[in-house]
Amino acid sequence: MAKINIGIIGLGTVGTGVVKLLAPDPQFKVKWVAVRDTTKERDVDLSNIRVTNNPFDMVNDPEVEIVVEVAGGTDPFYELTKHAIEQGKHIVTANKELISKHGTEIFELAKKHNVTVMFEAAVGGGIPLISTLQRGLQANTFSSIAGILNGTTNFILTQMEEKGQSFQDALADAQALGYAEADPTNDVKGFDVAYKINILSSLAFGRFVDPLAVYRQGITGITDTDIKTAKEFGFRIKMIGLARRNGNQLDIRAHPMLVPLHHLLASVEGANNAIFISGSAVGDVMLVGQGAGQMPTASAVVGDIINIASALKLPDFAPYFQPAVASQNLQLGSIEDSEAAFYIRLETQDTPGVIGNLGHALGAHSVSLHSLVQRGIKEDGSATIIFLTHKASERSVSRALKEIEAQATTRQIGIALRVFE
Ligand code: NAP
Ligand code: HSE
Repeated sequence: MAKINIGIIGLGTVGTGVVKLLAPDPQFKVKWVAVRDTTKERDVDLSNIRVTNNPFDMVNDPEVEIVVEVAGGTDPFYELTKHAIEQGKHIVTANKELISKHGTEIFELAKKHNVTVMFEAAVGGGIPLISTLQRGLQANTFSSIAGILNGTTNFILTQMEEKGQSFQDALADAQALGYAEADPTNDVKGFDVAYKINILSSLAFGRFVDPLAVYRQGITGITDTDIKTAKEFGFRIKMIGLARRNGNQLDIRAHPMLVPLHHLLASVEGANNAIFISGSAVGDVMLVGQGAGQMPTASAVVGDIINIASALKLPDFAPYFQPAVASQNLQLGSIEDSEAAFYIRLETQDTPGVIGNLGHALGAHSVSLHSLVQRGIKEDGSATIIFLTHKASERSVSRALKEIEAQATTRQIGIALRVFE
């Protein structure tokens, strides 16, 4: 039986897992591997594989049928992916940044050249989430998708809560375990979740938006006081990606939220991801599993490779195309047009009138207070006040916070987090 020749770009966490999974499979031959540093020692046997630091070598090899990109970033992989498609290569990628920023163009080009682009590993690591949305749930229309889409931040928040680890130590562990992006800023500042929720939103609502325009808040400002106080209020803090349709507007965001302890998402720990999908026919579906790490992610990549290989064996190869962009008139809305309950931590002076000032500013903007606690009165005469609001318009909360920030008794607004419904 003729083997299908594969070229793999990237031999880091994910690429190494892919080579390990493909090595014993008789239907595939990994002909090429591209890396940055060809002299680095690797964790897999490369004796029968050509190693290059120029990924265009494999793309220009007519024997290679499937190009697997598990390197990351858009430079040079935006140009390289387009070139590979033009050469008739099928693409398997774990690159959420590339798909999120350039998905529309890439899928159109793939259709023109009759090739398939698969990206199961780009969202949710090992969870078969993309195929569920593309195929298993295609009879549905969707109202919302929400989930924990980043293993690194979920791991950090879990370690901070359960082991009392510092943010920096937990991040270092996430990097050592291979969960984090090459630049972990993408994880902890929410870019990774913004890319991923944009991809899920494109599958659910038929339209990519500019991921850099998606509202984003990272987890770097969250302290152990927030984690403990949120728990006392009955919540666990989770980094959430959320996409919902509101008329002709898409409400897409990536930010930490207080999730009620009784909600299933609150119990998702470590590097696990979980995605809630609300479909018109199926109702609510939640998928949970390992969202990052070598073998779970390699499982998704190799699943895509096998799917393409199976299609290639059919007498009439029919590539899977992304559905055409369905709703061109859908626009990304502003977060200011939505509503949420808020958790807010303030550093204030510990003087009479502080709570009165606070109540006045909230009341003036129709934001109703739900609960309030004062924490640690410090030697410098400051105190931490933490409160929860009832659901209010984002615009009103942001105006109230501006007013509070300007009050003489306020030292600074520590953090404002939304509460998950
Ligand atoms: P990684 O460990 O940093 O590995 C990146 C690999 O790409 C390295 O082998 C590097 O070569 C190679 N590379 C980078 N730029 C290159 C270039 N211009 N030409 C040739 N090779 C190049 O990254 P990773 O964690 O495996 O992630 C890879 C991709 O999978 C990213 O898109 C990431 O977002 C995605 N992903 C990762 C996970 C995860 O859990 N790690 C999960 C889902 C998706 P050298 O080894 O020589 O430096
Ligand atoms: N850095 C990503 C995460 C990898 O931590 O979820 C999986 O996409």
